[in-house]
Amino acid sequence: MSSAQGTFKKLTTHRLLEMKAMGEKIAMLTAYDFSMARILDEAGIDVILVGDSASNVMAGNDTTLPITLDHMIWHATSVVKAVNRALVVVDVPFGSYQGNSSEALRSCIRIMKESGAHAVKMEGGVEIKESVSRVLSAGIPVMGHLGLTPQSIYKFGTYTVRAKEEQEADKLLSDAKLLEELGCFGVVLEKIPAHLAKTVTEELKIPTIGIGAGAEVDGQVLVVHDMLGITQDFKPRFLRQYADLNTVIRDATTNYIKDIKSKDFPNDKESY
Ligand code: KIV
Repeated sequence: MSSAQGTFKKLTTHRLLEMKAMGEKIAMLTAYDFSMARILDEAGIDVILVGDSASNVMAGNDTTLPITLDHMIWHATSVVKAVNRALVVVDVPFGSYQGNSSEALRSCIRIMKESGAHAVKMEGGVEIKESVSRVLSAGIPVMGHLGLTPQSIYKFGTYTVRAKEEQEADKLLSDAKLLEELGCFGVVLEKIPAHLAKTVTEELKIPTIGIGAGAEVDGQVLVVHDMLGITQDFKPRFLRQYADLNTVIRDATTNYIKDIKSKDFPNDKESY
């Protein structure tokens, strides 16, 4: 049986580096539960991110800040059980790595040990240098995340495009280079100008994965609920919606209610 890529060869961090070198784009989506992860994996997605966006789309919070390490491990464990091929990366949640590098290492070891995930993702550059190094030195693959980093939303104040000014753009490029030097296997670039993402991508050997960062990056990531049209109130310019599952689910639910009320469901064939 074949996947979208015609193979079930497992995705590794090394394979992602090869993909960048060969010019093969990387497809990444979020997932937070077994059923969704199984569908995405069977469809041939390269990387599944157990994102802390679970805080928004699964738990209904306004930000990613409330989700805990235990919650993330719960979601990651469900995803890992479903996956045969994709690389599973787990967001290290707010408050579980910023304190110091020992705390970061403890949190990441818990994620890897308890969920069986393959890698972790942390937001920030030079500010989390020690934590990134410590986690990497324990043999845990780390993905960086620069640009709009939602865990810092109260510092930014808005979800608008980051690094439009030269100073912030320079810092982002130097943070990206630092993450590569430390040993990260990739970096997410969120909501930054396309020309800056292109420069970062050209300057790095490790792959860049964009979300609202234009086309000149090594791969793309979207939140699966946004991409499938389940969320309704979030329609940023960078989002391409591939389905309207909100309408599909709503219509199915309406028909289900109608059939029950009209005593059409269940019929004889659906009964024992
Ligand atoms: O949590 C998340 O879904 C993310 C992506 C937006 C990159 O970090």
